[in-house]
Amino acid sequence: MRFLKINEKLPGFFSIDGKLATENRLKGFDPFGDGTVKIGGREFRFFNPERSKLAAAMVKNIQIPDLKHKTMLYLGAAHGYTVSHLSSICKRIYAVEFSERCFPSLLRICEKTRNIIPVFADARLVKYTWVENVDIVYADLAQSDQTEIAMRNAAVFLKKNGSLLLAIKTRSIDVTKHPRKVCTEEIKKLRKSGFGVISWKMLDPFEKAHGFVVAELREPSF
Ligand SMILES: C[S@@+](CC[C@H](N)C(=O)[O-])C[C@H]1O[C@@H](n2cnc3c(N)ncnc32)[C@H](O)[C@@H]1O
Repeated sequence: MRFLKINEKLPGFFSIDGKLATENRLKGFDPFGDGTVKIGGREFRFFNPERSKLAAAMVKNIQIPDLKHKTMLYLGAAHGYTVSHLSSICKRIYAVEFSERCFPSLLRICEKTRNIIPVFADARLVKYTWVENVDIVYADLAQSDQTEIAMRNAAVFLKKNGSLLLAIKTRSIDVTKHPRKVCTEEIKKLRKSGFGVISWKMLDPFEKAHGFVVAELREPSF
């Protein structure tokens, strides 16, 4: 007997026997071998906090905004692990990735899910001007200027009062500084640019030297 719990604060996310899961819109969809379970005619796929910083942030109780039926610009989609889960929750996701190695597997996810739009581009340049204004900008870029890239994209695409979800890989910014210090410095940049920081934490033990920030765009001053 499985124990299914609905996440009241975050529609679309579930806990099954204490493990985070999303509901499969496409039956049998398990592109990363997470494992699925059927409960009462519904199918759920486990969402692994060791593979996704978003899942880790949820397990660590970082205050994530409601993502249900929202539009999202996702920077750094890689092979599509996290976006594959978000596709069952969000309305539409623009998934930006510039790695030729990752993009073919991302395309396969997009073909299946139909609400992820693949964008083969450098997020630093913000040249995909055809993308609509979105409710959420999500950034997981592992670059020295990851916060600046996220803010530049938010300045163009994020609706007022929209949310920025930012995974900070501190080692890409400064390996010599304490990871928490790097995060607080990046958070200062967000505040200076008109973001209100709602919630943030380090992601250990799931991701070493990574922080995860949820911010809201209030008065842009980019
Ligand atoms: C840590 S991985 C992302 C993992 C992914 N978010 C997930 O949870 O499944 C970072 C990705 O960002 C991509 N990336 C880094 N800089 C980028 C840029 N300027 N434009 C587009 N993609 C970029 C890398 O190629 C890499 O695939």
